[in-house]
Amino acid sequence: MTAGMERDPDRAYGGPRTVRPTTTTERRAEVFVGLLFIATILAALGLIVSYIIGANTQVDGVLLAVAFAGLGGAIVVWVQYLMHTPTMIEARHPIQPNPAADVSPGQVAMREAESGFTRRRMLIGMLFASVGGLVTAIAVPLFSLGPLPGRALFVTKWKKGSRVVDVNGNLVHASQIPINGIMTVFPEGAPGDAMSQTVLLNVGPGLLQLPADRASWAPQGFVAYSKLCTHAGCPVGLFRATEHDLMCPCHQSTFDVLDGAQVTFGPAPRPLPQLPIQLQPDGTFVALGGFPEPVGPAFWNQTSGGGA
Ligand code: FES
Repeated sequence: MTAGMERDPDRAYGGPRTVRPTTTTERRAEVFVGLLFIATILAALGLIVSYIIGANTQVDGVLLAVAFAGLGGAIVVWVQYLMHTPTMIEARHPIQPNPAADVSPGQVAMREAESGFTRRRMLIGMLFASVGGLVTAIAVPLFSLGPLPGRALFVTKWKKGSRVVDVNGNLVHASQIPINGIMTVFPEGAPGDAMSQTVLLNVGPGLLQLPADRASWAPQGFVAYSKLCTHAGCPVGLFRATEHDLMCPCHQSTFDVLDGAQVTFGPAPRPLPQLPIQLQPDGTFVALGGFPEPVGPAFWNQTSGGGA
């Protein structure tokens, strides 16, 4: 059997084996499928080049659309015009060799294999090239993701012994924060650091109801919590003194200052992390360690790790 010929699918079982020529429609379909694959390959290569030279995203979008459309169109045309799935109903015959057949069953099987493979070998190769090129073009931008964050999400600049300063880097004294007062503070050496921003509140002595293991973290009613909302990271700076709660201005999550910043309202999924602090004889504050858990919004592993 030569390339371009197919076994007649309608022949009766055990009868003469014939081949039918490739029709004009099929030849045109093959050419069309090949052109669509070429368009896909060129578009995928164009995507890679576009990424390397930094072309704008509109160009990337057009190339991606051409690549997907070419690949999809080629597959549709291939299935529609080049794959034969005739419906046949035929009587069952005894299974035995038919000497009247023009070729032996083994030859037919071999010719089938040769025909199907030879005639479409190029298209199959182009199919793999198209898919490979498209996958490569889509995967290349992954190199733009940058380095992994490592432990950056788990730690802040707070560490054991960090002195508490204001946004200007000046040491904070207890006398600066009256009862029901609030101040945004940072670790010495990192004023203004976004991840480390902390609210230091003075609720007065005898009101806090912290867990026993945190009793020493809030001297004389001074308590410190991360200022980053655990919902989406907005700064939690609204202190309602009469209710003793902190409110996030973005989506109104509310945290109970007296009860370890437990969430009492809103979408925040967990309390604000508490910073352990100690009041020094000179009236300044130092941290007893970093935050015991990651600050800010939740992420895939936000409950492990801790402060510095
Ligand atoms: S960011 Fe605070 S409630 Fe949404």
